[in-house]
Amino acid sequence: MYLVTGATGSLGRRIVRQLKEDDQATRVFVRLSSHFSELEDRGAEIFIGDLKLERDIIKACDGIQYIISSHGGNDAQALDYRANIDLIDQAVAQNVKHFVFISVLGADRGYQDSTTFKAKREVEKYLIDSGLNYTILRPSGFANNLIPLAERFRDTGIYFSIGEQQNRTSIVSTDDLAKIAIASTQIEAAKNQIFAVGGPDILKREDISRIFARLFNQEPLIINPPLQLFDGLRMGIGLINPQLNKSLGTLRTLLAHEFFCTTEEVSRLESTFNLKMESLESFLRRYVGQ
Ligand SMILES: NC(=O)c1ccc[n+]([C@@H]2O[C@H](COP(=O)([O-])OP(=O)(O)OC[C@H]3O[C@@H](n4cnc5c(N)ncnc54)[C@H](OP(=O)(O)O)[C@@H]3O)[C@@H](O)[C@H]2O)c1
Repeated sequence: MYLVTGATGSLGRRIVRQLKEDDQATRVFVRLSSHFSELEDRGAEIFIGDLKLERDIIKACDGIQYIISSHGGNDAQALDYRANIDLIDQAVAQNVKHFVFISVLGADRGYQDSTTFKAKREVEKYLIDSGLNYTILRPSGFANNLIPLAERFRDTGIYFSIGEQQNRTSIVSTDDLAKIAIASTQIEAAKNQIFAVGGPDILKREDISRIFARLFNQEPLIINPPLQLFDGLRMGIGLINPQLNKSLGTLRTLLAHEFFCTTEEVSRLESTFNLKMESLESFLRRYVGQ
């Protein structure tokens, strides 16, 4: 039996759909407030709980062989850090066969402005030291994040992007990542490994507007405020709401740095998991293309 956390999220839903297509027994950890009927219709066992409560995590792990941790949220201390530590402790107690942790590309770069990046790295270390069989996946930005931007572009022609347009990224197909997360529990070569997970193309941010232009056959109107404008606004917000200022640290980190996989890293993924990583253009064509 698989336990999937974050099962109503953009990645988690895809993991559960795939698991149920493969007819795998799957328990999903969901909140009462979230939309989980699709998962129930697909035959997943629903566990209602809150990842901030250790007692819920203990109950959810009962009888589980595989855990895929794919949740996230605004409270990095409670969700990205503590909930994963509690899940790992329970996995050890339950003798779980394999633990897949969705981290983030760059988790090991020591970005101090982002509580999420710091939490991911600390969880990675804890998992490695736990004695469990594990796979740590460090994805770049998910392709599904671009669906609403592509739809806005289709309706208005506007492409909005903050900061340096030469910064590189390798946006990953969220569907490919879901397949990799599941396959990690079964493929020997993925055991006790860390993988950077990105799409096949290293894209500059300006390339994304060109992809939109090709998809919808219209010239982009690019609005590109500098990062300094974001910093100024953040400083202003900090005077009124220091907590919000802090939580903007992860967004600032993502805007200021490059997150891409090398061709060697993509080849390693493709050969380990025996798949061809999908390009951003192909992903968007499937979801919003004309
Ligand atoms: N998105 C990206 O570009 C990206 C890039 C690299 C790594 N990642 C990592 O990949 C993972 C999945 O990201 P995502 O974009 O798919 O996430 P997402 O769409 O934001 O989904 C977050 C999930 O966590 C659940 N959750 C939040 N608080 C919870 C709580 N207290 N108890 C139980 N469940 C809770 C949410 O449930 P509700 O439906 O109840 O809100 C939702 O299912 C995260 O670990 C994220 O850090 C994401």
